Amino acid sequence: MAETIGIVGSGLIGRSWAMLFASAGYKVKLFDIEQKQVQCALKEIESQLKELERTKLLRGKLSAKEQLGLISGTSNLKDCVTGAFLVQECTPEILEIKMKALRDLDAVVQAPTIISSSTSTHMPSVLSKSLKNKERFVVAHPVNPPYYVRLVEIVPAPYTESWVPVKVRALMETIGQVPVSLKKEIAGFSLNRIQYVILNEVWRQVQDGILDVADVDKVMSEGLGPRYAFLGALETAHLNAEGMVSYCDRYASTIYSVSQSMGPTPHMEGKALEDIQRQMCERIPLEKLQERRQWRDACLTKLSLLKKEVESL
Ligand code: NAI
Repeated sequence: MAETIGIVGSGLIGRSWAMLFASAGYKVKLFDIEQKQVQCALKEIESQLKELERTKLLRGKLSAKEQLGLISGTSNLKDCVTGAFLVQECTPEILEIKMKALRDLDAVVQAPTIISSSTSTHMPSVLSKSLKNKERFVVAHPVNPPYYVRLVEIVPAPYTESWVPVKVRALMETIGQVPVSLKKEIAGFSLNRIQYVILNEVWRQVQDGILDVADVDKVMSEGLGPRYAFLGALETAHLNAEGMVSYCDRYASTIYSVSQSMGPTPHMEGKALEDIQRQMCERIPLEKLQERRQWRDACLTKLSLLKKEVESL
């Protein structure tokens, strides 16, 4: 019989997880504190699965109808978690709301069910230190939109039992995501720490009048980005010389001295913020954000297909 996954919180991310788990044949039970959110989620999942099937982008071997048949809603938290292999918490990123949801979950969960949180920013130990099931708590942080961007950061708290992240990693691989396992918790996890370094330097270059907003974004989208869609920073370096030692022989001292000139971390406020907002809005007015998001997701869909194709080369 298919194993069951419980989803707590049926918003954007809860819906994506539900589709991903069902694509690999798991039974999914969706819960939300707002019952109408569950109904809304089921309707939207149905229309998304049908559209994915129509456009031949549906993941997994099952039909849209079969996948939909694996997903059900419930208005009872206990029903959502009972017998589940894992419960994926997907409530809003507001600490008090998350803590309340986790306390409610903790009261009804029983071993060996794993409690996994989708949090983007909260440290696992902050979320779980008072839970009686804290040894089976872990973070599994997806990247939006998870259906097309496959990375999942798995982050344990100091007291998480070692089998828990191992099982979650295996689960992520089974559903076709690409997990990375942090050995210990750290603020921002890995992805956001790297993203913040880039954002800080981009901000400094605009603030210091080196490049304008449109051009600095091209440095990523037309320069680093295309490479980084396929190779990480380290492999890029390895290939850019005759291996890593040769790369460091050639470039390490320059990298070190340029890095010393980076300057302090910007506060991202005041005049620089006003200027960046004005330039961004000239390029993409606020009323066009939704349209541009749809374009971004269409690009990511095509990129995910290309990545699949090159993986098999
Ligand atoms: P959302 O606001 O779309 O959905 C949250 C849902 O949780 C709502 O349906 C709300 O009714 C429900 N909820 C609130 N309190 C609850 C409770 N006590 N019990 C059950 N359900 C409850 O939020 P979204 O964007 O789906 O984010 C969920 C989590 O995923 C957050 O931790 C966020 O940081 C993380 N995440 C979000 C990403 C994004 O781009 N949106 C990307 C990666 C992670």
